[in-house]
Amino acid sequence: AKVNFHHQDGAVDAVEAESGTSIMRAAVRSGVRGIVGECGGQAMCATCHVYVREPFLDGLPEIGEDEDEMLECTAEPRDARRSRLGCQIELGADLPQIDVDVPASQV
Ligand code: FES
Repeated sequence: AKVNFHHQDGAVDAVEAESGTSIMRAAVRSGVRGIVGECGGQAMCATCHVYVREPFLDGLPEIGEDEDEMLECTAEPRDARRSRLGCQIELGADLPQIDVDVPASQV
């Protein structure tokens, strides 16, 4: 699967990841700046916040209760439609590619 991380300065990190890997893990493994993943994927830190780009919003898993709560604690403002926690979205057959914007800050 492939994730394109779009940074605020226009740079793009294109990352290849195995099926079953989360957006957060794919970013951390490849050293993508701006994605921290402090809690290790437990939906408890919000440092993996991303803004999902169209047309990838349709078909994503629903926002869970923990994710919803943490999205109220992000460093950059939550976007009602596009904000997600990168650790809660898994890449795979259902999601072979996704493009996300990386927030300017996670702290
Ligand atoms: Fe902590 Fe996603 S890695 S909430």
